[in-house]
Amino acid sequence: MKFTFYGHASFSIEVTGKTLLFDPFITPNPEAKSIDINSLKADYIFLSHGHGDHIADAVAIAKNTGALCVGAAEVAGWLGKNGVEKAHGMNHGGFINFDFGRVKGVNAIHSSSFPDGSYAGNPLGFVFNTAEADFYYSGDTALTMDMQLIPIWANLKFAVLPIGGNFTMDVADAIKAAEFVKCDTIIGVHYNTFPPIAIDTTAAVKAFEKAGKKLLLPKIGESVEL
Ligand code: NI
Ligand code: MN
Repeated sequence: MKFTFYGHASFSIEVTGKTLLFDPFITPNPEAKSIDINSLKADYIFLSHGHGDHIADAVAIAKNTGALCVGAAEVAGWLGKNGVEKAHGMNHGGFINFDFGRVKGVNAIHSSSFPDGSYAGNPLGFVFNTAEADFYYSGDTALTMDMQLIPIWANLKFAVLPIGGNFTMDVADAIKAAEFVKCDTIIGVHYNTFPPIAIDTTAAVKAFEKAGKKLLLPKIGESVEL
């Protein structure tokens, strides 16, 4: 499985021959100016919530690639109104089958509105079961006791968690989240994009190490094999 980072909380995962793109926020991010959204491949685009720093490029990339967008029912409806033809609306609940595996929407403690301020439904985290591995993307969230449910549904090979604090978990809470979801390999996102979420990445890696866990922080445009 290949994970590629596109800055902030944008990344793709290649699994069972499909490319899953997450929370594309690339053209408005000066840190990600090396990434050309017209070169991105996607079979699916997963959207954790409606905030601009997660959906900025969703419509453009969906139109370029013909990818199926997956997110809250309200997010899917908004994409449709913006000309996206293929969108699957969901909510927190049972597993949903796709051709690469299955996905469950789980709780995320956050807010969710579109850039114009309108209601975007519940923010989501996603738990994935695939033939290659199980993994979890929490989306923007605080640490929540509900994360302790996730090992019921998945034996996680890795988890993608926000670590920047202020709007989401910080490093200390992300370590606790990794314990709750029973996962030793964490990919950190949602840090260093804006001043309120600036962190000391060396200290973050050391803090995870001290807890017996590995924190991966790929550079923008970098891929890691998992
Ligand atoms: Ni957000
Ligand atoms: Mn965010």
